[in-house]
Amino acid sequence: MTSQSKSFNDVDNSISQQLNSNADKKDPSDNNSQQKNVKYLLKNDESEFVRLNSQHEALKLVWKSLYKAPIHDELEKGIKVLDSGCGTGCWILDMCKQYPNSIFLGTDVSTIYSVHDEIKPSNCSFDVANVLEPLPFPDNHFDFIHQRLLVAAIPQDSWQPVVNSFMRILKPGGWVEFMETTDVINLSPKGARLRNLLSSGAAKRGIRSSAPRELELYMLNAGFVNIKAIPMLLPFGKSDMGDNTISSLFQDDFLRLYRREAIQAVAMKYLPEIETPEDYEKFLKDVLAEYDEYNTSLLSFRFYGQKPQ
Ligand SMILES: C[S@@+](CC[C@H](N)C(=O)[O-])C[C@H]1O[C@@H](n2cnc3c(N)ncnc32)[C@H](O)[C@@H]1O
Repeated sequence: MTSQSKSFNDVDNSISQQLNSNADKKDPSDNNSQQKNVKYLLKNDESEFVRLNSQHEALKLVWKSLYKAPIHDELEKGIKVLDSGCGTGCWILDMCKQYPNSIFLGTDVSTIYSVHDEIKPSNCSFDVANVLEPLPFPDNHFDFIHQRLLVAAIPQDSWQPVVNSFMRILKPGGWVEFMETTDVINLSPKGARLRNLLSSGAAKRGIRSSAPRELELYMLNAGFVNIKAIPMLLPFGKSDMGDNTISSLFQDDFLRLYRREAIQAVAMKYLPEIETPEDYEKFLKDVLAEYDEYNTSLLSFRFYGQKPQ
């Protein structure tokens, strides 16, 4: 039976298995691979390091700030901050420099951040922690918790427990802030095929790209107050008019993501017109041309809220 003649369910199962088998590989270049109860499938290797750091620079340009919660004065005076799922530590390293009186801890299931061991400032440290497990911190411990882009790591039914656990470890009056993406705006035909392919695999692991839409509700349920959701479009389409600096950075980010081995393998298996790596490269370029034509963008939000005093 060819992949085209399989039922949708068979294809979904098979995509999921292929992605999961990649995650299960004990690859020494992937410092995620030894962890249990981790749903995130991208290897945290050298190319992921480059991708996350470049993505950070693009996000700074578009958001024009590292956070939105009203906590600048406290950060200046000196508080305790957690960055959950910190990746390379790019956010925390910028924050450390900006706020030398505050103390920053970055946690992740992967030790991809350890590359900074030699250069990190004294107000910064990193440790391993899995946000899907009970967090190893006492109650009322942090003044500010930040978490960015864990949409592909947290199953839909784990979002509420994650938000609840942040409520537990925040001090009364402390703030939490999430930055997440939710929906593609003006999705193009080839772009949709690529996205649907990955979404169906992710859904088998309980992960839904739309789950962060509910973050306001999860925060309300957990008891947060002063909740605010700030939307921001991340542009992927270049236009003939105006400055395309930011969309060029997001297009580079798109290529870095979709050129990852695991994603390319799935696309080559399930998109019938893609038979060679060259076909895949052309397909990606076609998607980017469509993004320009359709003016495609990704909707993102910063959600922040306060633990009651
Ligand atoms: C897309 S990256 C975002 C990294 C960083 N927050 C940033 O914005 O640059 C997702 C990160 O989540 C981490 N991660 C995946 N599953 C996790 C889990 N269960 N607990 C903590 N971190 C996790 C990955 O290792 C990866 O570093």
